[in-house]
Amino acid sequence: MNILAIETSCDDTCVALVKATGKKWPKFKILSNIVSSQVKIHRKWGGVYPALAKREHQKNLPMVLKRALKKAKSASWRTKIDLIGVTIGPGLEPCLWVGVNFAKKLSQDLETPIIPINHIEAHILVNFVSKSQISNLKSQIFPAVCLVVSGGHTQLIWMRDFGNYEILGETRDDAAGECFDKIARILGLGYPGGPAIESEAAKLQNTNYKLQIKLPRPMIFQKNYDFSFSGLKTAVLYDFKKRPPKVRKSKIYIRKMAKESQRAIVDVLTKKTFKAAKEYKAKSLILGGGVAANKELRKQFKVQSSKLKINFLVPPKKFCTDNAAMIAASTYYQWLKRGTEGWGEIGADANLRLG
Ligand code: KG4
Ligand code: ZN
Repeated sequence: MNILAIETSCDDTCVALVKATGKKWPKFKILSNIVSSQVKIHRKWGGVYPALAKREHQKNLPMVLKRALKKAKSASWRTKIDLIGVTIGPGLEPCLWVGVNFAKKLSQDLETPIIPINHIEAHILVNFVSKSQISNLKSQIFPAVCLVVSGGHTQLIWMRDFGNYEILGETRDDAAGECFDKIARILGLGYPGGPAIESEAAKLQNTNYKLQIKLPRPMIFQKNYDFSFSGLKTAVLYDFKKRPPKVRKSKIYIRKMAKESQRAIVDVLTKKTFKAAKEYKAKSLILGGGVAANKELRKQFKVQSSKLKINFLVPPKKFCTDNAAMIAASTYYQWLKRGTEGWGEIGADANLRLG
């Protein structure tokens, strides 16, 4: 089954061509996976500006498709594509429509069926693209607790099996990635903030320099599985403002603040996720979304899951941030489950929910 997948839910224009085979544990061969990032354009706003992102998607999508086809060496692709998959939500509505309309047009031109894809589910299912990750686990993977942490979402999900989800908790305000982005902006580190904060934090040497920074861990001890990150960003802003300009511009302050912010976010995510894993007696922990690329988060999850003796699945870093290979994988799973009929009219849904 040759799948052409399209993803435009935020600020990356992505197209992938993937060959998928098999049923229970499918095999995926990624022929091409092109990501055209708009980071440079959004940098000056310190975050994604939807109208601008939509315009860029419109401009870039035909070129990105061409590059994906070229990379896959798919000259006669018109006869070779069996299925088209496209992200319909959740995400930024104007951006989603660009991908959806493009996919619909292609589907008509090629007379190829189209399957609508949930972006959050794709962040989870990309974990099953890498063979080495699951080859030894298989029967023990489910039920699993999944944490999807990205620029737009922070959700803790109970996954009984493929396609069977229940949201246990989510953020009440900012997403974890958004918190990284906002803190980076306060510190003047640019966008996207997650990688910038990670890299500043890593530069901090052991030092006796007496600069104390202690941030809150919002909702860490609350009984529910919800999150809240906007207070953390405000705490960083207060601390930043109360420091003399000389201090807050210093490398040591920026690095210490980066490290403490990263710690605070990772502490909350780890504590709540593993509380859910214990309570629900999960067999695995599945991580996904852009923030899953964070080394400290990956390390804490690895340590905690090995203490709890449960599986830990995390995608390679390049599959954590938005890409269309994850959309292709989801498309195949949906096809296995429901085939190509009965999907109804396909349209964007900015607030699409799992479950
Ligand atoms: O999944 P994604 O590419 O897009 C959305 O669906 O939102 O996630 C992007 C988010 C951004 O907020 C970015 O700062 C964050 O993921 N991110 C990271 C890292 N790499 C990307 N956060 C922490 N550490 C990283 N290494
Ligand atoms: Zn995403």
